[in-house]
Amino acid sequence: MATPRNDVLQSVFITGLKNVHGVEHQALALIDRQLNHLTNYPEVADKLRKHRVETEQQIVRVEEILDGFGESRSLLKDAALTLSGNLAAIAHVFAPDEILKNSFANFAFENFEAASYNSLIALADAGGFGKATPLLRTSLGEEQAMAAWLDEHNAALTLQYVERRAAGETASH
Ligand SMILES: [Fe+2]
Repeated sequence: MATPRNDVLQSVFITGLKNVHGVEHQALALIDRQLNHLTNYPEVADKLRKHRVETEQQIVRVEEILDGFGESRSLLKDAALTLSGNLAAIAHVFAPDEILKNSFANFAFENFEAASYNSLIALADAGGFGKATPLLRTSLGEEQAMAAWLDEHNAALTLQYVERRAAGETASH
């Protein structure tokens, strides 16, 4: 039975799905921007390429859940296109330590995504939208794994950057 609380739960859930859909599109753009300008850190490039594939699947999962609520795709495109540009500022193409700044920003971004999925899982559980939960959990796991990888490689990447600079090699990207 529809109650005011259930209506609010569903509304917040659907808004959250649309938001994360936009965030994932922004993630694709950020990954592409970095891959276009990344030559000396093949391990990072490889990881970004793999996570790009995961990100595309995450978008499909969100669309599948939204389809179940009869939400139209045309509105989603709008949401993706009207994203605020502030996240785009985390492209650090002109910084001498671009590789490090991007790595820190990626870590922040992956944690933002993980928090979004955690929030959606709580809404799905509370609202009885049980079909969504396994899809959201899969995406959450991918975001957490990516964040963990970035965290684990932060120290080594920093030292790699120092070695390249000390050797007079291109170190920024
Ligand atoms: Fe991600």
